[in-house]
Order: sequence, then structure tokens, then C-alpha cells
Amino acid sequence: MQFATRLDNVETSAIRELFKLLGTPGIISFAGGFPDGALFDVEGLKEASARALDEEPGGALQYGATEGYEPLRAQLSAFMKTKGAEVDPAGLIVTTGSQQALDLLGKTLISPGDKVIVEGPTFLATIQCFRLYGAQLISAPIDADGVRTDELEKLIAEHRPKFVYLIPTFGNPSGAMLSLERRRKVLELAVKYDTVVVEDDPYGELYFGAPPPPSILALTQEVPGSRERVVHCGSLSKVLSPGLRIGWMIGPPELLAKATMCKQFSDAHTSTFAHATAAQYLWSGRMPATLAHVREVYAGRAQAMGAALRRELGDAISFEQPGGGLFFWARLTGAHGKLQDANVLARRAIEKLVAFVPGAPFFAEKPDVATLRLSFATANVEKIEEGIARLGQALDA
Ligand SMILES: Cc1ncc(COP(=O)(O)O)c(C=O)c1O
Repeated sequence: MQFATRLDNVETSAIRELFKLLGTPGIISFAGGFPDGALFDVEGLKEASARALDEEPGGALQYGATEGYEPLRAQLSAFMKTKGAEVDPAGLIVTTGSQQALDLLGKTLISPGDKVIVEGPTFLATIQCFRLYGAQLISAPIDADGVRTDELEKLIAEHRPKFVYLIPTFGNPSGAMLSLERRRKVLELAVKYDTVVVEDDPYGELYFGAPPPPSILALTQEVPGSRERVVHCGSLSKVLSPGLRIGWMIGPPELLAKATMCKQFSDAHTSTFAHATAAQYLWSGRMPATLAHVREVYAGRAQAMGAALRRELGDAISFEQPGGGLFFWARLTGAHGKLQDANVLARRAIEKLVAFVPGAPFFAEKPDVATLRLSFATANVEKIEEGIARLGQALDA
């Protein structure tokens, strides 16, 4: 078969090979990016889906509007308001997960050869998706406070990108949180260089202590001229259920119109049954308790993982304790002559029945092979302690 040349720009991720081994019996996996299925509010979703069918069977089962089911758009607008962002229901479209929002951004904004700045490291599926549309990705360095805005400004000035893609709050894989000062700076840069900033925010609600600073979208109120340059992608995947496939995109009207047109050609609309269920769920008022519960469970697991890493791997690993999200981003230091290549460690770890993801594929440029990502989402505290002890043994092997 002769495939489209655009496929030349992407390759199957190396991580997928690793994932094939995750079915090995007895393995403790810190590799996935899944939320814990045991935390799904099954009762709440059962009630919501039953109400969706009882109250509006037509809306829940018929074809629907490409932009999304109106009651869900209204609920998502109210949800965004609780997070400090004023968004009219017509100012967002519902997408099939935020992943589709990223795809629609690729479709509507990227022509082959266009430059896009991403964080180094960033979400792997974004790298693949933007490359599929022919983007040339440029990597901006991060530290514990998220993307380094001094470096970002230099890169924007040099490359004049089509847009900048950031995961400012508990990034995947970095776990980092962009500081308030840097969020403002990002908006100032968007205005100064007339560039678009995409804020991908599936993890913002998963904070463990104090809430994160307002989103970049919410802060547009403070920076004149910035709102029309910001796109915000949200998702219910990590807080409620990824299987519902409910994401959304907020952006300037002309962008939403083009994205809606492209969505029409690909899936016509996201499942109306999922829309109606999610709308009923948000309307039911159960979300705050669900959020409080998942935050508490993940906070305990994050704390256990941090303590176990320090105990079992000592100064052979360096990391920042994440304040939310699902991930630890760490670096093998090579202390005491220990291994510094996370790809080699991943293979040894599988032999010891523990899995994580090496960090190199998360870099669009200049991969750092000493890095790794560990998710604390799906293993309980006991499993986390056992798994990290095994990781320590793998590093010593
Ligand atoms: C940063 C980021 N963006 C987007 C997504 C896509 O999530 P979904 O399509 O389930 O909303 C993920 C999922 O892992 C993610 O980590």
C-alpha cells in the first residue's frame, strides 16, 4: 500500500513496545497515564445516564449538533466559571476527549513546515499529532516552575511560531506547575509577538494542597489583547472518566468555526449519549465531592511514591514532588556510578516486575535519556512501596 506522505513524519512510539509487556503477571505498573478505575463514580454515572434516557431520550440517542449538546455546553461553561474563567456556552465546542481538540488544532492551524513551540518534555500524543500535520516542533526548556519564559521569548522571537502549546498545570509528563508570574508573562508574549497560546489543561483539578494559580485562560482578563490569542483545552477524562470521551475547546470564534467544520468531516459530533450523561452528571452536583475524593487518594499515593523514591533510590534519582496531577518526572543522576540511562533501566525493571516510561520520547528535540516518568495513579500505597523497592533493586542490578 502507498500511504500518505504525511505519515513519513511520525513513527510508532517506542513506548508502545514497552506497553506490550505490561500484561506480564505480577507486574506493578507506573507506566500508564490512566486514572484509577476504582475511583470512577459508578453510582453517579448510572443515575446520570438513566436520567439522560428518561428525560431526553431524543437528545441522548439522536444525531446532534457538531458543536455539542447545548445542556452540556451550558454545564461546562458553569464548570469553567468555578475555575475563574468566564466562557459563554457558545464560546466552547465539545470534542471527543481533549485529544480531538489537539487534532482539530493541527488540522485547522498547521500547514506543513509551520513551526510550533512545545515544552521539552511534552505530551507524546501531541508531538505525534502535530507532526502528522507537518509541524516543525521546537522545544522550550522547563524547570520546576514550568516553561522558562526567558527562553520561550527567545524562541518565539527567533522562530515566530504558528502557536505555542503548553500544559501549564501538572504537566504530562513533567508534573510541573507554571508559576503565576510566568503565566502572566506567557500572555504578554502572546500579545507582544502576536502568537497563539494553547493551554492544555486535563490535570488542573487534581491538586493536592492549595489550588494552582488561575489558568492562562482565566488570566486573559488581566492582559489586554490576550483573550483572542488563547485556546484552552479541557477534559473530564482524568477527573470523571476517560471512557466518556468528553473534552472541550475554548477559543476565538473564527477558530471554533473552522474546528467545527473539520469535526463535521471526521466524527460529525461526539456521542450524544455521553454528552447527555455528562450534562446530567455535572447538573447533579456530585462533581465537587468526586473531585475531593480523587484529590485525596492521589495526594496520598504521590506522597508515598516520593518517600519511597527517596528511601529506595536516594541520590541516584532527582525529582520535584508534584503538587497535583498523576506523574513524577525524574532524572537518573548517575551518583555512585549507577545507571543513568532510563531505557536500560526500563528493561531491567521489567525483569524485576515493575514498569515505568523512559522520558526520552517526550522530547520533541534533544531527548534526555536520563529522564523517566512514573505514574502514581493506579497502584495503591502498598503496591507503590513494593514497586519502588523493585525499582531500587533494578537500579542496583
Ligand atoms: C496533556 C494531555 N492532553 C490531552 C490528553 C488527552 O486526554 P483525553 O483525550 O482523554 O481528554 C492527555 C491524556 O493523557 C494528556 O495527558
